[in-house]
Amino acid sequence: MQRVAGTLRMRVVGSVGVGKQGFGRGKGRTPGSAVGAGRRAVVEHALNPIHRATTEEETAVAPRALIAGNWKMNLDRKTAEMLASALVDGARDAGVDLAVCPPSVYLAPVGAVLASSGIELGAQDCHTAQSGAHTGDVAPEMLADLGCRYVIVGHSERRADHGEDDATVRAKAQAARRAGLVPIVCVGETEAERDAGAAPDVVERQLRGSVPDGLDGGSLVIAYEPVWAIGTGRTPTADDVAAVHAHIRAVLSEITGDADSVRVLYGGSVKPGNAAELMAVENVNGALVGGASLKAEDFLGIARATP
Ligand code: PGA
Repeated sequence: MQRVAGTLRMRVVGSVGVGKQGFGRGKGRTPGSAVGAGRRAVVEHALNPIHRATTEEETAVAPRALIAGNWKMNLDRKTAEMLASALVDGARDAGVDLAVCPPSVYLAPVGAVLASSGIELGAQDCHTAQSGAHTGDVAPEMLADLGCRYVIVGHSERRADHGEDDATVRAKAQAARRAGLVPIVCVGETEAERDAGAAPDVVERQLRGSVPDGLDGGSLVIAYEPVWAIGTGRTPTADDVAAVHAHIRAVLSEITGDADSVRVLYGGSVKPGNAAELMAVENVNGALVGGASLKAEDFLGIARATP
């Protein structure tokens, strides 16, 4: 078996199909939660074909990969809808979970294009409150109301541009859970911190400060994004990614309910050309993609390159 994250033991019952069925949007298709439902759980669709099983058996299962596109503050309404439409057309056999996070003003039109496609909708940020006097902000409940499943919190651009600290990020992740959303909590070191050999310590501190206690794979996604790799075309080596992701998994085992079931994405200059290598790294369960998510072919190329 490839890419087994940790030692999670799952009970696989019945014939397991993936393909289109694995792309179904809506009820029952909660890959993270299926994996995170317990040490012995019936898994029907959170599996890659390699995990196919026809009889009752125990096997170890890595969480199904998630490729999430962070569109940042790009596109206009028409191009956003066209991009979403191209993804719907091209994603039918992707074999991984897909999500896109458009600017908040385009969530509704993009969500309408994605409806019933299996591609999930996510937002790029949320406020901590459910409602109130917070001019310009968006409550997680509002995002859920629009059909979002995910919300990115603690992206390094928000940490830098808006002074968000770990406590704020944690409060946003908790608010996202309150609204039934899955927070994608971002962590990652700066170049100076990497050069000082402090990457694992920085990431650990951010995780401990930003991730609410007790969440599992159905309610939490982590994105490791080295700040110096975002939008630069530079990436860490596969060994460096492996080391940080292993550290993240170890820290998660202390602060979450079931660390093996949590999807830990890598982000930072992921492209079709480097995706196969990065996505094959142990403990990497998908990608958070910025620039390359703005072109359907590139985003889908990353999805196809993901084992
Ligand atoms: P990038 O951005 O893929 O353009 O490097 C990643 C991100 O910021 O999420």
